[in-house]
Amino acid sequence: MNIEIDKLISHLKSQGFVFQGSEIYGGLANSWDYGPLGAEVKTKLKKLWWDYFVRRNQYNIGIDTSIILNSKVWNASGHLGNFNDPLIDCKSCKSRFRADKLIEEKFSDLNVGGWTNNQLENFLKKENINCPKCGKNDFTNIRQFTLMFKTSQGVVEDEGSIVYLRPETAQGIFVQYKNSQRALRKKLPFGIGQIGKSFRNEITPGNFIFRTREFEQMELEFFFAPTDQNDWFQYWLNKVIFFLEEVIQINKENYSIREHDKSELAHYAKRTVDIEFNFPFGRGELWGIAHRSNFDLKQHQEYSSQDLTYFDPETNEKYLANVIEPSVGVERLLLAIFCQSYKEEKLDNGERIVMKLPYKLAPYSIAVMPLQKQQKEEAQILYEKLLLNYDAVFDDTGNIGKRYRRQDAIGTPFCITLDFDSEVDNCVTIRDRDTMSQQRIKIEEIDKYLLEKNI
Ligand code: GAP
Repeated sequence: MNIEIDKLISHLKSQGFVFQGSEIYGGLANSWDYGPLGAEVKTKLKKLWWDYFVRRNQYNIGIDTSIILNSKVWNASGHLGNFNDPLIDCKSCKSRFRADKLIEEKFSDLNVGGWTNNQLENFLKKENINCPKCGKNDFTNIRQFTLMFKTSQGVVEDEGSIVYLRPETAQGIFVQYKNSQRALRKKLPFGIGQIGKSFRNEITPGNFIFRTREFEQMELEFFFAPTDQNDWFQYWLNKVIFFLEEVIQINKENYSIREHDKSELAHYAKRTVDIEFNFPFGRGELWGIAHRSNFDLKQHQEYSSQDLTYFDPETNEKYLANVIEPSVGVERLLLAIFCQSYKEEKLDNGERIVMKLPYKLAPYSIAVMPLQKQQKEEAQILYEKLLLNYDAVFDDTGNIGKRYRRQDAIGTPFCITLDFDSEVDNCVTIRDRDTMSQQRIKIEEIDKYLLEKNI
């Protein structure tokens, strides 16, 4: 994607979308806060996901589980044993890298996901892959570095008080699968969705909000009988694509679909497909769809000694459900949306930066403006009326051209202006963000106009 990420970051900061975390203290590496407008977009994005994957899906229900779980959960899930990255240090300049990423950055077609430490080390030497910082080829041996964020709970800090911040929201769902199924009397197939914070002590966070140590996930665990012949993997892949293209309007040409090869699969996965977005810094995973088989339920059944099987009332059989999981990071999706929406446009009378956000994700749907001071009171009354049904903002500072630019910069789809004639003809001018065309309509037709525009 052909935009400069630094320009986007600076725009998002100046307009109140994304700020550097802890900025007044010099910041905290790779932490980002969402300003007033960013928080709006994020909230709207999460609601669209929840509506589509949970509330308005015939099979699914939603849940909200804790960030800190009993540590046995992470033994059972395999995270305490397997959730590691291969860490390597440059002996010369002391920079730290992920060995697999060093290779993949140079050989973009290679997939080294399943390689052993020895294989990675030998390849780095054989191919003369040098330190990207100082250019030397003098690395330490690889050490496996756990991504789990460790902390302790309670007054006494000892072995028994160690807890972890969850690295995925999925495990909370598996742990509460049986309770949810029983309480809601759900029959297979059914899914449980969750949105929430996850934490990973990433070795190489970066690329703005693409990879951070604290982030939010939107995950669905869809449970079905092992004998069920429906292609649920394809079903959920189609749903994800529909959500991307139709609900949040990601352009087809900006993403691609990649099937993982066997060596790359995570410890729990039987099959995985990634939707990759063409970010300004290269292609990167946006959304993963995984077949987790009955791995998690089996592990939790064994480690908790609780029966997590499903009793099938039709066949009178008991079995563990299989699982398909579509999982996406909120901030990563937000970054894709920001990248796609950010446009610098040349105009006859200058230039503008416009955020062509999907209408449903724009912080404000409409801006109400008096052309001059004389219409301020009337515009304020209209604004308060519109506020009852729309996400509206009032803007009366600067000349009208400046105000249009300001609203373009934050992605407001429509500006409604009252002028000298409004009092006489009861009309306003509506300006369209994308076409910049203006139309004069009756005040009582504003609702109809906005309805036609899907606001
Ligand atoms: N439960 C499966 C799971 O967590 P994953 O591929 O590790 O799978 C799923 O993560 C999604 O979460 C990714 O596709 C990405 O969108 C997001 N994600 C993962 N790590 C992230 C990070 N460090 N920062 C931001 N988003 C991340």
